Parts: sequence; structure tokens; C-alpha cells
Amino acid sequence: MRKVYGDVAALDGVSLRIRPGEAVAVMGPSGSGKSTLLNMVAGLDRPTSGSVVVNGEDLGRMGESALARFRRRHIGMVFQFFNLLDDLPALDNVALAGRLVGVPARRARARALELLDELGIAGRRDAYPAVLSGGERQRVGVARALMNRPALLLADEPTGAVDSATGEQVGDLLLDLNRRGQTLLLVTHDQRLATRCATRLVDFMDGRIVRETEPERREPWTVR
Ligand SMILES: Nc1ncnc2c1ncn2[C@@H]1O[C@H](COP(=O)(O)OP(=O)(O)O)[C@@H](O)[C@H]1O
Ligand SMILES: [Mg+2]
Repeated sequence: MRKVYGDVAALDGVSLRIRPGEAVAVMGPSGSGKSTLLNMVAGLDRPTSGSVVVNGEDLGRMGESALARFRRRHIGMVFQFFNLLDDLPALDNVALAGRLVGVPARRARARALELLDELGIAGRRDAYPAVLSGGERQRVGVARALMNRPALLLADEPTGAVDSATGEQVGDLLLDLNRRGQTLLLVTHDQRLATRCATRLVDFMDGRIVRETEPERREPWTVR
């Protein structure tokens, strides 16, 4: 895949295959193309050349509305700054992801509550993002991303805006999700997060993959 902005090749010939159940961490300096990669995989933008296939489907063959539907249904995204809706309490932030793919309100709320419970923040269901801690917000963000049981969970610097203790919790959460079979593509500056959570590390530089390694910390990954 290549992605060119003006005269900058944000992605300059990147080929990456992620198998079900893997947790891939992409690392590299600021500006090396990590977020661009995630945006292409999420179908938020299209590559200049090359293709993205998720769950056997070629995103380049989809029109805008099909792509949006595909993304809501099959891809979960976790962001550095959470991207929660300030006007909705935690539970509704999560349930909305289900409502957008047509899940009836009661079922969406039940699933959202189940997720908040699994993530240990069911007690905060009625709290608005403004009163949640960074760790709680990121848990809500993760619950929202998991709402529709995505084939692929994407995370862009998920510990980039929280303190180190909270970062540890976010790491625990991602590791646990992957151990239970969730396929994960993670972009991070956080070496510790990457080596703890990933089954494979990919180093980026100037829009290219310069190294791939398998960290030793993990037992072999399993397929759901
Ligand atoms: N929408 C855009 N328009 C123009 N240039 C962009 C855009 N998005 C990213 N870039 C450029 O592409 C390069 C890679 O950016 P990015 O993927 O955000 O890097 P990273 O996430 O690794 O910091 C940078 O030089 C950046 O300025
Ligand atoms: Mg980035």
C-alpha cells in the first residue's frame, strides 16, 4: 500500500498481513505513517495505491456508505483522546455503536452494560465523560469499540493521554482481550505496552516497515 499526501509518502510501500488472533503493535517515530496505516485499515481514508482486505473483504471495492457500514460492524477503534460524546452518559456512548448498526435499543443497552461490567466500570454507567477519570474514559472507549464484536480492534496510542498506572490498566485490558481471541492492531510509542500486549512488533520509519520481531513475553496466540 502507498498513501501520498502532496509530496509526502505517508505510506511508502507497506505490506502487512495480520492473522486472526494476533496482536500486532506498530511502533516508530512521530510522522512515520502509523496513524495513516490505521486510517487505511479502518477505511477512514483510501490508499493511493494498493489494497486493504479485512475479514476477506476488499475495502477498495466498497462505496462510501458500504464502507461506513462495514467499519461500524467489523472494526472497533480506540483513540488516544477517547473520542467519547460528552452529552451522553457512559452506557449510551457504548450502546450507540450498536444502535448505529441497527441493534434495538434494549438489546444495545443490555450488551453495553455487560461490556461495562466486564471492564469493571458498570457502576459508572450513568456518569458523563467529563466526570470520568482517564482510565474510565478509555474503558468506555474500549467497550464502545467492542460493542459489535469487531473482527479487528484498532488502537491508536491508547495510553498516550493517561498516566502510567492507567496505562498499565489499559495494557492489561488489551492483553486480556487478545488472550480471549480478539485480533488487535495497535499503534504506540509505549515500548512497554507493545512488548506486553503484542504477539508481533512492527517498526515503522518514513512510511516503511523496517523491522518485524516477535517479543518473548507472550505464550503463543490462539485463534478464537
Ligand atoms: N491528512 C493529511 N494531509 C497531509 N499530510 C498528512 C495527512 N495525514 C498525515 N500526513 C503526513 O503523513 C506523514 C505520516 O503521518 P502519520 O501517519 O500521522 O504519522 P504517525 O502517526 O506515525 O505520527 C506525516 O508526514 C504527516 O504530516
Ligand atoms: Mg499518529
